[in-house]
Amino acid sequence: MLATLLLVGYGFLASTPLAQALGSACSTPISGGTAAAGDPFWMQNIDHQGTSAFNPDPSSYQVFRNVKDFGAAGDGTTDDTDAINSAISSGNRCGGGTCPSSTVTPAVVFFPQGTYKVSAPLIAYYYTQLIGDARVPPTILASSDFAGIAVIDVDPYIPGGYGAQWYNDTNNFFRSVRNFVIDLTEMPATSSATGLHWQVSQGTSLYNIVVEMSTASDTAHQGIFMENGSGGFFGDLVFNGGKYGMWVGNQQFTVRNVTFNNAQTAIFGDWNWGWTFQGVNINNCQVGFDLKTGGKSESDQTVGGEAIIDAVASDTPIFLRTSNASTSLAGSLVLNNIQLNNVPTAVGVVGGAVVLSGGTTTIASWGQGNVYSGTSSSYSFVQGNIAAPTKASSLLSGGKIFGRTRPQYEDYAVSQFISVKSEGAKGDGSTDDTAALQAVFSKYSGCNIIFFDAGTYVITSTLTVPAGTQMIGEAWSVIQGQGSAFADQSNPTPMVQVGASGSSGILEITDIIFSVQGPTPGAIVVEWNVNSPTQGGAGMWDSHIRLGGAAGTDLESSECPSGSDSTSCFAAFLALHLTSGSNAYLEGTWVWLADHDLDSDAQGQLTLFSGRGILSESAGPVWLIGTSTLFSLASEHHTLYQYSLVSAQDHYMGLIQTETPYYQPSPTPPTPFSLESSYNDPSFPSGQVAAWALNVQTSTDIIVFGAGHYSFYQNYAQTCLPNSDCQSQIVNVDSGSSIFIYNLATIGVTNQLSVAGAAVIPASDNVDGLQSTFTVWTQ
Ligand SMILES: *[C@@H]1O[C@H](CO)[C@@H](O)[C@H](O)[C@H]1NC(C)=O
Ligand SMILES: *[C@@H]1O[C@H](CO)[C@@H](O)[C@H](O)[C@H]1NC(C)=O
Ligand SMILES: *[C@@H]1O[C@H](CO)[C@@H](O)[C@H](O)[C@H]1NC(C)=O
Ligand SMILES: *[C@@H]1O[C@H](CO)[C@@H](O)[C@H](O)[C@H]1NC(C)=O
Repeated sequence: MLATLLLVGYGFLASTPLAQALGSACSTPISGGTAAAGDPFWMQNIDHQGTSAFNPDPSSYQVFRNVKDFGAAGDGTTDDTDAINSAISSGNRCGGGTCPSSTVTPAVVFFPQGTYKVSAPLIAYYYTQLIGDARVPPTILASSDFAGIAVIDVDPYIPGGYGAQWYNDTNNFFRSVRNFVIDLTEMPATSSATGLHWQVSQGTSLYNIVVEMSTASDTAHQGIFMENGSGGFFGDLVFNGGKYGMWVGNQQFTVRNVTFNNAQTAIFGDWNWGWTFQGVNINNCQVGFDLKTGGKSESDQTVGGEAIIDAVASDTPIFLRTSNASTSLAGSLVLNNIQLNNVPTAVGVVGGAVVLSGGTTTIASWGQGNVYSGTSSSYSFVQGNIAAPTKASSLLSGGKIFGRTRPQYEDYAVSQFISVKSEGAKGDGSTDDTAALQAVFSKYSGCNIIFFDAGTYVITSTLTVPAGTQMIGEAWSVIQGQGSAFADQSNPTPMVQVGASGSSGILEITDIIFSVQGPTPGAIVVEWNVNSPTQGGAGMWDSHIRLGGAAGTDLESSECPSGSDSTSCFAAFLALHLTSGSNAYLEGTWVWLADHDLDSDAQGQLTLFSGRGILSESAGPVWLIGTSTLFSLASEHHTLYQYSLVSAQDHYMGLIQTETPYYQPSPTPPTPFSLESSYNDPSFPSGQVAAWALNVQTSTDIIVFGAGHYSFYQNYAQTCLPNSDCQSQIVNVDSGSSIFIYNLATIGVTNQLSVAGAAVIPASDNVDGLQSTFTVWTQ
């Protein structure tokens, strides 16, 4: 009876302006999950139809693996190590130190509810997602005699591997682990028990993980061990106990929403070029952030920059300390909205010196490092209050920068999902799925969660994802545009349009890769139009734009080897366009124009071309949390910019990472693209002969909270690197925009920031390791 009434109610709704605004043509708008209390996570029981389109044997290669199907007991007593490792490794996957990378052997390794005892590391192969039941996250219990580097290891050490490991630490892409409790407490306190050896690069994430560790005074346990790597994202992690919650060194990284209870040291920072932390809770630890500092060169690289926003620390003697006293720039620090409750020392130095005393107080905006403003090239070294950004209220929730975890739909019943394969899409990398996918959206968007079973879905004309859509992939399901619709550089065409122009409603995209089969010089790979009336309602999580460098793209080492300089190697006009009416929450998004072929063991260098990276003209709010655009390396691709904000408002960006193409300045931008005023392309003042990493025009209330802009080459040669003159200017802000920039690191550039095309901040004044870092710049 109730159901009938609801149906009638929704039937009425469907024809109202509200339903139209949601963009749904379907008749029963979804209004929350209907899973019963005892149901497992939908992922366990949904039909498993995922395939790897370009695997040598797609019909037999298994993407989804339930560890119980491989013999894991999950009963808390049986040793499940071998069963789980066989679930991960079966199917001739990429690992062992003989395969550097591969996109054709993706795997989801699913753990039903239970406790899985292990005695040796679970080795996560390349392109693996380890996923626990999101309703009741399973426990991985290290046995008392556990032996090995960590419970989960993404890059085993072996003699003779790539860099003496299975994978090259800066090439260790496409990994995710989520929904687990990792329990180390049965191991002796003094053993070096470790939750995760997470030595990764772009396209990687940890979400929703609790690590349980010993709280003994002599505990040697640690939650995460990361000695190096290149980027990634962490969200929603909890560390209980341990000597270290996280012991981390990596070029650059973004961390959101982490909690440390009863650890000796919450976060030990070994080295970096720049890290951003957003939302940190530290309870009853001895030290919050313990940072190795003082190094000023590549050979003595310590923490270059730590930017922390919205932290709460309680009953912890020291919030942050550095290893070396700083009397000039030596480890740039930015603290914004740090609430201390019984924390006597806010910032200190090993040995006891106090730089900033604490207590029970809130630090609004404090920095250590070199501070700049306006068009003045002179700076002051400060250890004190610094300019606080104007935070648009639309970006905030409870006074903090809003954050939203990836949707997993854990409260939804299997029956609420619609599989695109069940609805007729093939995902086989060759069939044109445009019409099938468009039909799924028009029939089900707003009424069901749309499940993209693993596969590669070819589209040949613009695919419009209507407002109201909630879609989720499987091991990064690929939507791949190809053909004449995207062939004309002078007639750029959206490949995937997220929300029709002017549309309003929620929109959620998770676990998807947007790709092209070249040549596609006219492709606007993702055009984002949707405007969510609810905060952060339109977003994308762990979803990436990957241009070339993978099987099936025709932008591979056989077609586009380094130096091929061919128009058949054009990959895009523009990768991601946030249009003026849109708003967006993007978390863990990697926009990559491939520099090398992930499916060639020789890791062949590529020559691909893409015009533009991310263009935002959005009036906001926009959150870019842990995003990077790498258009780079040894290829003659031609890029105008990585990030460009034009008439944008209310953006929070942290951390953003970019690289400049290695070929520049021969030729100089915009060749072989042309400047298009209809896309508000930036100008290039004389002497500016390489792409902009970040261009900002006529924009207001922009916060950049951590940035890494690197330029390693000039015309393929690295002779410029020691002199930091691979590129003269890299970030340009017009004089009218209101923007606050914190902890901006550059490598290989002469000037770190320009205003209206004129260089302002010389990198030579801010050398802080391989990188130069300034602590804050304001207009
Ligand atoms: C790792 O990758 C980087 C970047 O591609 C490369 O420069 C380096 O030589 C690689 N190292 C090894 C050991 O393969
Ligand atoms: C990463 O760390 C490992 C272990 O210390 C080391 O062997 C490797 O050379 C490092 N890689 C880089 C690029 O520094
Ligand atoms: C932060 O993480 C915790 C779990 O660790 C989760 O319960 C909470 O919802 C998260 N908050 C946000 C804003 O994502
Ligand atoms: C950091 O401090 C240590 C210990 O006092 C000292 O040996 C080292 O030289 C310092 N490093 C720098 C770069 O100042």
